Amino acid sequence: MARGKFITFEGIDGAGKSTHVNSVAEQLRHAGHVVVSTREPGGTALGEKLRALLLAEPMHLETEALLMFAARREHIAQVIEPALARGEWVISDRFTDASFAYQGGGRHLSLEKLAVLEHWVHPELQPDLTLLFDVPIEVARQRLDAERVLDKFEQEKSDFFKATRDVYLQRAAQFPNRIRVIDSTQPLETVRLHVEELIQQLIEHL
Ligand code: TYD
Repeated sequence: MARGKFITFEGIDGAGKSTHVNSVAEQLRHAGHVVVSTREPGGTALGEKLRALLLAEPMHLETEALLMFAARREHIAQVIEPALARGEWVISDRFTDASFAYQGGGRHLSLEKLAVLEHWVHPELQPDLTLLFDVPIEVARQRLDAERVLDKFEQEKSDFFKATRDVYLQRAAQFPNRIRVIDSTQPLETVRLHVEELIQQLIEHL
């Protein structure tokens, strides 16, 4: 049984990534794959409890990073690794790049400390493909302001999101084969077609 593939979705709040998670799942199922669609923080019963705390409670920035990685440890053990081992494809709305971008960029936690946590929690595992939905922060802000109640992160100021976006783009430059940047200011259908093409390449191992 061939190991499944792991795809992650990233971007600042308001970049519009979540819209595409369902259509990617659909595309993969159509290609004959069994798909597990999940999210971070969360993805397990414990992880969803940690998510509720993380998105609402003020806490020390290192506590926040540690809880993100605690939820991730559980997620990998309970959901991601078993599914990949069964040959299933896992798509996750956010993963470790979000910790580098939000805790590292937005909150200025040292990237070295985050790299230690990454190495501890998943020394071997990396996504096969990461789709980074990128928009200028002004565009993201407008989209967020149109939303219902904003969570702890969504209430952050523009400096936070600028630093978050910068770290995402730095990581995309550092890992160009894994992280593909998608211009999310384009019309929805144009973005959808770009995503579909990148997923098709992964299906065909191009
Ligand atoms: P998000 O994925 O945007 O969900 P929704 O679309 O329901 O708002 O919310 C998760 C939030 O958690 C988001 O603001 C980013 C933040 N986050 C981190 O700060 N670090 C992490 O490691 C992860 C996975 C998420």
